[in-house]
Amino acid sequence: MPLLKVSNIVSGYGRTEILHGVSMYVDQDEIVTIIGPNGAGKSTLFKTIMGYLIPSTGNILFLEEEVAKLEPNKKVERGMAYVPQLENVFLSLTVQENLEMGGYSRDSKKVREGVENAYDTFPVLKEKRNKKAHTLSGGQRQMLGMARALMTEPNLILIDEPSAGLDPRATEAVFNQIKNLHKEGVAIIIIEQDAYRSLNISDRGYVLAMGQNQFDDSADRILNNDQIREAYLGG
Ligand SMILES: Nc1ncnc2c1ncn2[C@@H]1O[C@H](COP(=O)(O)OP(=O)(O)OP(=O)(O)O)[C@@H](O)[C@H]1O
Ligand SMILES: [Mg+2]
Repeated sequence: MPLLKVSNIVSGYGRTEILHGVSMYVDQDEIVTIIGPNGAGKSTLFKTIMGYLIPSTGNILFLEEEVAKLEPNKKVERGMAYVPQLENVFLSLTVQENLEMGGYSRDSKKVREGVENAYDTFPVLKEKRNKKAHTLSGGQRQMLGMARALMTEPNLILIDEPSAGLDPRATEAVFNQIKNLHKEGVAIIIIEQDAYRSLNISDRGYVLAMGQNQFDDSADRILNNDQIREAYLGG
């Protein structure tokens, strides 16, 4: 049984249906990449998996339980974490306050340990611990967003466009952290415009377009598929 199994999800905003029956899964030892054109519904899929949107039909099984109608905080308690595409940190709070907020549901000892872990993983955040998040660079914010999501010790993390707005060096650093998380046993789903980079560290990939599954395969085979390369990876 996969860690997460999404089956035939129909979801959207009010009466506007965006996902018309999307399915996917991730195993505990996997990194999975989702690619697809702007507006395909990728972020909508993450919002639905996390519980910010409730699907009108379809199933979301997490750790073998139906969770489609659970609120986001309940899903976090069960081991899901989410780094949104935008607004993934509280800009008016300090780095340290952001991390503490990420662990709000845990006891204070766990929170302290989590913060220390975050500083070990992302030393730059330690240097900036008392700075407001709005003073961070894009890459540092992205790291803070990830570190905050990790405060709950998730077994699955959904990361929406980790490289957006980052220069090559920051992108490299963020992807290295993603690889480290995977080594520690966290399952990861990445939505990414830089499809080559993301598929290169992934086990499998999905192509989503117009709110539907277009294609899925091992990451290797997607990278070597001429038609998919032409259509979705810029040739
Ligand atoms: N809050 C919202 N209310 C209404 N419609 C929305 C909302 N957010 C997104 N949409 C619409 O849903 C569709 C899918 O958007 P979504 O953000 O899921 O796409 P995406 O695949 O993540 O695109 P991108 O690659 O640009 O991030 C788009 O047509 C978008 O206009
Ligand atoms: Mg998006």
